[in-house]
Amino acid sequence: MKRTHHCNALRPEHAGQTVTLTGWVHSRRDLGGVLFIDLRDREGRMQTVFDPADLSKEVFDTATKLHAESVIEVTGKVRQRPAGTNNDKIATGQVEVLVKELLVLNHADPLPFQIDDPEAAAKVNEETRLKYRFLDLRRPEMTHNLRLRSKVAIATRSFMDEQGFLEVETPILFKSTPEGAREFLVPNHRDPGTFYALPQSPQQFKQILMVSGVERYYQLARCFRDEDQRADRQLEFTQIDVEMSFIDREDIYALIEGLLKRVWKTALNIDIPTPFKRVSFQEALNRWGIDKPDTRFGMELVDFTEDFRASTFKVFSGAIASGGVVKAMNAKGMAGATQGQIETMTEYAKSFGAKGLAYIKVENGEWKSPIVKFFSEAEKTALKTKLAIEEGDLILFAADQWLNACEILGKIRLYCADVLKTQGKLTIDPKQFNFLWVIEFPLLGFDREQNRWYSSHHPFTAPVAEDIPLLKTDPKKVRGQHYDIVVNGVELGGGSIRIHQPDVQKTIFEELLQIPPDETKLRFGYMLEAFRYGAPPHGGIALGFDRLCAILCGTTSIRDVIAFPKTAKGTCMMTDSPSQVTARQLRDLYIEVKVKKPE
Ligand code: AMO
Ligand code: AMP
Repeated sequence: MKRTHHCNALRPEHAGQTVTLTGWVHSRRDLGGVLFIDLRDREGRMQTVFDPADLSKEVFDTATKLHAESVIEVTGKVRQRPAGTNNDKIATGQVEVLVKELLVLNHADPLPFQIDDPEAAAKVNEETRLKYRFLDLRRPEMTHNLRLRSKVAIATRSFMDEQGFLEVETPILFKSTPEGAREFLVPNHRDPGTFYALPQSPQQFKQILMVSGVERYYQLARCFRDEDQRADRQLEFTQIDVEMSFIDREDIYALIEGLLKRVWKTALNIDIPTPFKRVSFQEALNRWGIDKPDTRFGMELVDFTEDFRASTFKVFSGAIASGGVVKAMNAKGMAGATQGQIETMTEYAKSFGAKGLAYIKVENGEWKSPIVKFFSEAEKTALKTKLAIEEGDLILFAADQWLNACEILGKIRLYCADVLKTQGKLTIDPKQFNFLWVIEFPLLGFDREQNRWYSSHHPFTAPVAEDIPLLKTDPKKVRGQHYDIVVNGVELGGGSIRIHQPDVQKTIFEELLQIPPDETKLRFGYMLEAFRYGAPPHGGIALGFDRLCAILCGTTSIRDVIAFPKTAKGTCMMTDSPSQVTARQLRDLYIEVKVKKPE
């Protein structure tokens, strides 16, 4: 016998039909001798009724012994539910199936956690959910996420195909290129002592594909980075990876706006307005204190450097005199901040090397703060007008070098928003999506410890053309042709126009990044060589596919949209990996393990 319908399919018009359903025992209720079993399959839920008056004793007894999550097949007649017993919460809530036959396909043991109740499931700790992921994924919330992820992948592929892109798979066994994150190494038994590395992204292959004349490449690419795990980071994750030839930044913006428009329409039936706003890195830091601003709420940072340049308050005027700035922010309605909250914010400031965090609480018509006594009338007026200070506000200051001052307040701004959200003073519409392009990043940063420049993103990013002369004179002023796509404070993706001239690339590697020529040759020689045989101008981008799905599913953790994610410690609870290997495996690889494991 085969199922005739899925568990979400039956409606009043099916009344009188005999149907066969298969699925899992979702829940069971015993009402005055009549047994109700909610049957669940991937598509939904259906109430089935086991009435002893209509059934053989054997079938009824079998049904009474079923544990939750056992797999069964039932055959019976669809009927309307009696008046007053409809369940509006499920699509099949007006009907039920009066069971005639029952086949138990598999019994389930008692469950390690209850999965029929979303509230109970939400309380189960995540490690348990991950250990029993096969059960966790049965929860309708998780099934929804998997389904949405699949839909978004399909929408992406069809959009990219329409735009003339080829999907090309690039190797997972790659070469070690110790840039950014720590790599995963794979020992090679054929030549003991040599290793493959898993790719952190297909960056180099996709650029080579441009040299190969592919012109438009994309891939849903698996990437591997051995970095600290957070809610938005996994050791292995997926990118929508894109590269195009003969284009400029505008082409990438238009392509990605089109793709996201399609994805939002497919997944959420929302029309997102395009083109997206663009802000420079400089502006993003100045206004929101971060390069991935959440612009769904205000509390923007305001500059007071000129207002306090000659202040008698030395913390401020001193910072300015040593080339810094004074920035402030109005945390609207947070004058009642507790001592603990102020301490948390002060710790943020201190983690950036500041000595403290000056603040003013505006309460009962007064500015309560140990520092106000140092302020002149003009300084107070400037604060009042530029920050629109009102009763109940909390004003916070950072006096520091520009980047530090911005980042301190940027972090505090997000913290304040969280506090205000939990207090119900700030509400954000879950259907609001603020997309932004952040552009004009500095091409290079300077590492004081190692006394050398490093690439802000990766060494293949092209400088803004008019800034090229500055590479030799003032590298820190050089802007890169890099762009990040940000939504609601999440860095969804990033990319750049690449360097396609081998000589410019060599200058970046050797003169600025100070990678010795023989090392450059060893690591990137094949790229520099490829570029000598006709490399088209090209550029690309990669979107974090897991982050994209998490945003669409309304969750902050990408673990909720990955079928089998790793824990914060990088382990898979279900398969218990990583694990030790046999002495023989190690011997074949000429690997000796020196760590002593506790028994
Ligand atoms: P980047 O390193 O910025 O760029 O990565 C692009 C996007 O990938 C996502 N992402 C991650 N998602 C989950 N877990 C991680 N550990 C993780 N790391 C990154 C982010 C990020 O924005 N090759 C370049 C792209 C290019 O220049 O074309 C690259 O990989 O959403
Ligand atoms: P001090 O004179 O060091 O006691 O500092 C006076 C006030 O300024 C205290 O409230 C400090 O927390 C605060 N403060 C100190 N350094 C900074 C800074 N870099 N930015 C903002 N506030 C600061």
